[in-house]
Order: sequence, then C-alpha cells, then structure tokens
Amino acid sequence: MRIDGRHYRSIWLAEDGWSVEIIDQTKLPHVVEIARLKTLADATHAIRAMLVRGAPLIGATAAYGLALALRERADDATMAEARAALMATRPTAVNLRWALERMARALAPLSESERPHTAHRLADEIADEDVATNRQIGVHGLKLIRKIAADKAARGGEGPVRILTHCNAGWLACVDWGTATAPIYMAHDAGLAVHVWVSETRPRNQGAAITAFELGQHGVPHTLVVDNAAGHLMQQGLVDMVLVGSDRTTAAGDVCNKIGTYLKALAARDNGVPFYVALPSSTIDQEIEAGRDVPIEERDGDEVLCVTGRGSDGALGRVAIAPRGTKARNPAFDVTPARLVSGLITERGVIGANAREIGGVADASGKPDARRGAARAKSCAK
Ligand code: MRU
Repeated sequence: MRIDGRHYRSIWLAEDGWSVEIIDQTKLPHVVEIARLKTLADATHAIRAMLVRGAPLIGATAAYGLALALRERADDATMAEARAALMATRPTAVNLRWALERMARALAPLSESERPHTAHRLADEIADEDVATNRQIGVHGLKLIRKIAADKAARGGEGPVRILTHCNAGWLACVDWGTATAPIYMAHDAGLAVHVWVSETRPRNQGAAITAFELGQHGVPHTLVVDNAAGHLMQQGLVDMVLVGSDRTTAAGDVCNKIGTYLKALAARDNGVPFYVALPSSTIDQEIEAGRDVPIEERDGDEVLCVTGRGSDGALGRVAIAPRGTKARNPAFDVTPARLVSGLITERGVIGANAREIGGVADASGKPDARRGAARAKSCAK
C-alpha cells in the first residue's frame, strides 16, 4: 500500500540482490525509517524486537533470515541452527513455523551450492504469495461488507459500514494489503462508504500507531478509541461488524490474536454484532485442536508500565505510567473460542470456524515434520 503516495511493501529485496529492507515499525507513526537486514542476526533481532511484526510478516522475514544465513554457510548444521534461532524469536504466530518448515522441506534435499540461491527464491515466493493471498482475502471480505451494507440499508440504516478492528492486521503486518484491512481497502476503493473504529491495543498500541497510520495514508475514514470503549460502542449500536486478524487459528476454529480480541468477541456476541476473522490458510495450525494449547507469548512487564510517544518538542520518549516498583504481567495474545466467531475470511472463501470447513481450506503443503511431532509430545507431557 502507500506511504506519502508511494507504493511500499513491508519487506523487499535490497538493491544488492540478497539483503532485505524493512520499515522499522517500532518508529511508526512518527518516523518512517528503513532498516536493512544483512545477516541472520539482523533478521532474528528484527522479529524479536518487533521492528517487524504481525503473523504473515514474521513468516516472510524468517524465510529471508534463513536465506541470509545460508548465504554465509549452507551445510545442514547451519541450516538447523538458523532455523532454531528464528523459531525462538516469537512463540505465538504460527506463520513463523509454517514458513521455516516450507523452506526446510524444499532446501534439505539440495546440495550446499544450490541452497543459498534457492532459499532466496523461496523467500521471494513466500512474500509474493502473501500479497496474492491477502488480495483474495480482500475479494471475499468485500462481498461480506457489501452484504452487511445491503442488510443495513434494507433495515433503513444509513451511513457507512462501521467496522471495529483491533491491533494491526494491516499491510504492515503482512507483505501488502493486510488480512483484516484488505476488505476495508477494497471497499473504500470501490466507493463503498466505510468507517473504521481503531482500537488502540495496549500495551504496544499497534492500533493507534500502525493501523491509524495505514488507514490515514490510504484515506480511509477512521476514529481511534481506547480498548475499553469497544463494548460501549457496540451497545450504542455504532458497530456493524468486528473484523480482526489472527496469529494462530486451531483446527477446530479457536482464534488466537492480540490480547483484548476475546473481550471484543464477547461484547460482539452480547450485542448481536458479527465477529469476523481474516486470515491466510498459513495461519491455521492443523496440529492443535484446542485454543488452550496455543503458546501465548508473555512479554516484558515494562511494556505495561511505560508508554512511548512523541512529546510536544517533537522528540520520541518513554514515560512511566505506574508507581515505581509496580509489578506488571503482560500476556500478548488471547484466544477467542470458535463459538464466538461468525466466520473466517480466508483466501479460499468465507468459512465457518469449525473443523470440517477449516479442513477444507487448510494449507495442503503443511506436512508435519519430525521436529514438530517432538515438540507436540513435549507439550502434551507437561
Ligand atoms: O504482537 P504483534 O504486533 O505481532 O501482533 C499482531 C497481531 O496480533 C495481528 O492481529 C495478527 O498477527 C494478524 S496480522 C495479519
């Protein structure tokens, strides 16, 4: 999508043809700074420190990270170590595992001389596919927004379709378009009136910092609200649909997404507001049935105790918002049970959040490997 009228992807090959460039998302919305990833260490740092974030972009960055590692050495041991280092960066978004397994399956049978070039080509393929996938999510989601608009008009409702979103499931969380935002951008571009309620998404404020930035750059009408306002807005009849992304959706349709998503789903159910989740099939984890088995990232309590922002002097700074010594707990994701989900908008169509329909769209290339089997056995033994 666009920044200052210029088209960007969130990750792209640099002019040297092997390193990659990203937009450093820790600086948004105040500064648009491009960072270059030249090594595996650069890639692991970018994911862990959230210069890049969002499930699909984490997957694409990991794929390039593996390619960068293999450029230096391409033997089996290096490949295994690089994979392990990337897997350890963030635990919840399953696209990370998906991308690395896909790369490893294709690279393992190749000779050391073939691997670096093929790894780069595969990473490019993963990035390009993400763009096409999100475009398709947009096409299917647009039909849904049109239907909601038509139903609203038939009931005598006026004004735009009012969509509440959480966190950032936009193009900056993917390679382009976004998952939850693709239908919104397409509706806006097609002349269908939409208005987005952007929920700020404490503690890291991805809604306020990134979604508001994206929508503003594309000219989509939006209003920022604090996370706690969502239930009230729904009660007041000011929300026509909730549309969020996912970091991992189980085979049975439980949706893991940014902390606070579950509360929005509960409020949506209580107020008869449809709650949709937009996700690529690469976010479906066929290895896990129940949402309680999704590993939930626990982040530093400092993110809860302090906020970062730009002061009136224009300088970026960090301020404390709680008494010194306060303990903070910071689970980064929660799970919305399938029963609260109205539907999943995938690149293959809109489906119900249930095992039968999910089985029909789940990624066909995702064969579990031995390592994944071992990891599962360990978590069951706990
Ligand atoms: O911690 P983050 O910023 O990586 O979390 C991102 C989200 O929770 C997104 O909603 C999710 O990854 C979907 S992105 C298309």
